[in-house]
Amino acid sequence: MNTTFTFANGSLQLSRWPLHQPNNSLQAWDAADELLIHHTLESATQFSRQHKREPALLLINDSFGALSCALAQYTQVQVNDSLLAQQGTVYNRQQNGLAVTTLQQQSSLSPYPQAPDIVLLKLPNNHSYLHYILQQLSGVLTPDSIILASAKAKDINRNVLAMFEHTLGPTSASLAVKKCRLISCRYNAALQQPATINFPLRWPLEHSIYNVVNHANVFSREKLDQGARFFLQHLPAVAEGQTVIDLGCGNGVLGLALLSRHDAINMLFCDESYMAVESARQTISENLPDKTALCRFTVDDCLSQQPDKSADYVLCNPPFHQQQAVTGHIAGQMFSDAKRVLKQGGHLRIVANHHLGYADTLQRLFGNCRQLAADPKFVILEAIKRS
Ligand SMILES: C[S@@+](CC[C@H](N)C(=O)[O-])C[C@H]1O[C@@H](n2cnc3c(N)ncnc32)[C@H](O)[C@@H]1O
Repeated sequence: MNTTFTFANGSLQLSRWPLHQPNNSLQAWDAADELLIHHTLESATQFSRQHKREPALLLINDSFGALSCALAQYTQVQVNDSLLAQQGTVYNRQQNGLAVTTLQQQSSLSPYPQAPDIVLLKLPNNHSYLHYILQQLSGVLTPDSIILASAKAKDINRNVLAMFEHTLGPTSASLAVKKCRLISCRYNAALQQPATINFPLRWPLEHSIYNVVNHANVFSREKLDQGARFFLQHLPAVAEGQTVIDLGCGNGVLGLALLSRHDAINMLFCDESYMAVESARQTISENLPDKTALCRFTVDDCLSQQPDKSADYVLCNPPFHQQQAVTGHIAGQMFSDAKRVLKQGGHLRIVANHHLGYADTLQRLFGNCRQLAADPKFVILEAIKRS
């Protein structure tokens, strides 16, 4: 993996997080980061000359901390929905000897800091989340705030520019540099705000009386995922009093369905996305309020914070992406964490696309794996932790 990132002010060692990913061709920054850094350094110099102080930065969606590290001389608030992005940033700052004292990290759901001098936004692919971010920004910007955003040129279309224009103010986009473009925007306080989208969104869960709650950056936020739909037909019968983990819970739809069929199971909802965990919490509290005392909700990288031999069942519809990259390493980490966290005789049950070949992965890890069901696209697999 190329870890040496060179830019106008020097060079940095930047790693993707978690470390030791199988795909060595991926790196921890991209040309969109380079564009943002280049233009921020210019804007920051002008800002300092004009205001006789250094600008305060607001960094949004800085995946592995490339922006945070390259601009470490400025006070920063870094907003991410991903715990892994936060951890990657801290790791990269430390490995470059950069103080973490100028860095304040906050989750996507915390209020944004008032009156940031320069906003740097790596555009998310998900337009609901972009909408949410722009709505949050419109509540804190001043006409003096400098707003810079960047992404691959193919992801900056007329709709994206219109979203900036309508929510914040006059917007322009640069020509492509290394297939990326820079968006510059000026906040217009007098702008007639478009109708706001009220996040979280809710959709009715088919064949049930429940409504699933979805914050803006949550997987399958507008409808039930097909894999989850198949999994809902093959949930386990769990003994009362047992502990079940909904690993990579997203909006909590799997745990909701399981809880609704049992009187007294203990559920743990885990995800690395702050919006996912908050969605799961709201899904349960709005649909099964008398069961909330049986539930815990935690933002975690797989099950890193969970004790060994503490769960009877782990349910998982694993991800096969990290940011834009297709990867199996997170699913692999989820399976090995599940094995550690399961009690002797405990079960890991997953849904996955056939082609991912997880039956072999589970067979190697657990020494057993049964296919419980299959349709043309998905399989339900179960592995048992034996001594
Ligand atoms: C395919 S979605 C499944 C969501 C939900 N369980 C469902 O079935 O609709 C995978 C989930 O895994 C989460 N995830 C990705 N990486 C993770 C990690 N390292 N630790 C915990 N959760 C992770 C994602 O945020 C996403 O919510």
